[in-house]
Amino acid sequence: MIKAFIFDLDGVITDTAHLHFKAWKWLASEKFGIVIDENMHEQLKGLSRMDSLEKILAIHHLNQKYTVKEKVELTTTKNLYYRKLISDITPRDILPGIVELLEEIKGSSYKLALASASKNAIAILKSLDLFQSFDFIADAAIVKKGKPAPDIYLLAAKGLSVAPENCIGIEDAVSGIQSIKHAHMFAVGVGDKRLLHEADYVVSKTEALTLPNMMQAWNNSLV
Ligand code: G6P
Ligand code: MG
Repeated sequence: MIKAFIFDLDGVITDTAHLHFKAWKWLASEKFGIVIDENMHEQLKGLSRMDSLEKILAIHHLNQKYTVKEKVELTTTKNLYYRKLISDITPRDILPGIVELLEEIKGSSYKLALASASKNAIAILKSLDLFQSFDFIADAAIVKKGKPAPDIYLLAAKGLSVAPENCIGIEDAVSGIQSIKHAHMFAVGVGDKRLLHEADYVVSKTEALTLPNMMQAWNNSLV
């Protein structure tokens, strides 16, 4: 029986995924002279700040060229740039259908948690006026292994006191869907069906993400 919904943030609740990419694109060109493309955008989605940097450096086998301290400085530089991009975010930046969906979930007595890899998640939720909507927000800073590992989704389920098999996770990233599946939850993808083929159910955009659709998909998976 489904008792809880666990949401990713960037690219599901608000369209910040492209702003992360914009910041990485800037850093890669500015600091390493590397041009990163759309294909890299998909691969970066959902990854922690440091895992994203390592992935970009790996393009030209530059991972060993920088010390841990330098890498931390580089991620801080990216984050400062990203923070400027999100500085004027407001509830108008919530993706279509999400406010109604969160209200419907809460109104139907399901529990609601956030499982974002972003250390900016709380600030963003506050800017979107959604901070109070969640029963639990999993803290990315205390999670040892980032997505695609299950840790953040398991932490969210634990925070809600709900067993993972009673949770539905919602994600826009391949690594995020893998994280949900590794946590043994029902995975809902938002985006390209071919990319998110490991999900149990995929919608192309947030407008199509409704409670009846998700429950129907979950029911269908039982037969
Ligand atoms: C999200 C995004 C990633 C981002 C990660 C860490 O999951 O999808 O692109 O790298 O969070 O975000 P942060 O805001 O902590 O740098
Ligand atoms: Mg995402």
